[in-house]
Amino acid sequence: MSTIMGESPSTEMKDCSAYRPGLEGVVTGESALCLVDEGEAGLLYRGYPIRELAERSTFEEVAYLLLFGQLPNQKELTGFSTDLVENTVLPRLIEVFLGAVPSGAHPMDIVRTGVSVLGMADADAADHSHDANVRKSVRLLAQIPLIVAISYRLINDKPRIQPRGDLSFAENLLYLLTGRMGDDQARAMARVLDVSLILYAEHEFNASTFAARVTASTMTDLYSAITSAIGALKGPLHGGANEAVAEMFLDIGSRERAEAWVRRTLAKKQRVMGFGHRVLRKGDSRSVIIQRYAESLSRICGDHRWYEIATAVDHVMQHEKDLHPNLDFYTAVAYLLMEIPRVLYTPLFVCSRITGWCAHVIEQQDHNRLMRPRALYTGPPRREYVPLDRRT
Ligand code: CMC
Repeated sequence: MSTIMGESPSTEMKDCSAYRPGLEGVVTGESALCLVDEGEAGLLYRGYPIRELAERSTFEEVAYLLLFGQLPNQKELTGFSTDLVENTVLPRLIEVFLGAVPSGAHPMDIVRTGVSVLGMADADAADHSHDANVRKSVRLLAQIPLIVAISYRLINDKPRIQPRGDLSFAENLLYLLTGRMGDDQARAMARVLDVSLILYAEHEFNASTFAARVTASTMTDLYSAITSAIGALKGPLHGGANEAVAEMFLDIGSRERAEAWVRRTLAKKQRVMGFGHRVLRKGDSRSVIIQRYAESLSRICGDHRWYEIATAVDHVMQHEKDLHPNLDFYTAVAYLLMEIPRVLYTPLFVCSRITGWCAHVIEQQDHNRLMRPRALYTGPPRREYVPLDRRT
């Protein structure tokens, strides 16, 4: 790392020992929401192991846990589910915006701008109190799936589907996006979707959550913080990876072609999407869970094509690069089986991670300190200003 500092940098700026490119390993704040650990502890949401939450809870319970601090009892859960249903109404301004969306727009751009529009339409937007932030979080959790589903159906000339009060969050999401509900296969898909939402809900200071917290630390409104987060999630190195993984499976086409495809990609020094993680170098416990559900859904659907391609890619990557699949990898298998349009995979991540983001914004603003780190200056040393008429 080379640096050309100005003449006499401040003492504070001379000490760059804590500097890490990409903030790798740097602790930038405190949080009671989630422990990401490679060791024994694994991944905990507010103290609960992810495996137990995935196997024994619903996404609604996990959303409540993140937003309110504890798992709900039956009465609290019923109240929360009713609140979600009652909030599935979009303000008029959003309808106007959705009517003007161009047909080629990516749903991630629509949902990012849609959240921004929701902020403009919310009279509560400027209230940063804990209770107001929780109220807005519940509204966003209810409204984001609607923005995703309505806009997708609108630009693809499909009739609008209304959410149903008798379906769970995951069942409704599957219904809104694919029209599926009611039969055994739809129920199995909704269960796997529910698990994927639980796994996607929270992951400490990842790029999008950090973006939300930095934005929230200026004491701007929650909608602005969430808009920042969605913009960050969209990138292929972060949430955009699940869509990219599905593209890869389609490109590979069959299990037999997988090994050669991966070797070619690695030889070109390109990244294989859905592998590697900045923190989880030895493997992602969430991936092990969703892999199991993706395999079982393949059996239920009688379609093993995607799972077979995935395991073949996984085998080569572990053998050749010692890289493990992250959550996005086998999630793409499950979403392909559900026949969810690929452009909706990352918006689905938003439908879930909105809970973690909002919980972080609330935590940040409840104990706020403006985030304002320093940069290591690598520009030229001080130089003489040349007026415009003397510049060559
Ligand atoms: N494919 C091929 N090689 C890889 C990959 C990959 N997916 N990931 C890392 N490597 C290699 C990398 O080229 C480097 O090799 P070398 O030392 O020979 O140059 C080595 O592994 C270390 O990589 P790194 O760049 O130091 O790792 P990082 O911590 O900066 O990257 C990552 C983390 C997630 C950005 C990266 O693994 C990646 O690009 N993965 C693909 C995109 C992806 O799946 N993203 C989802 C992340 S997890 C869920 C989420 O956040 O949404």
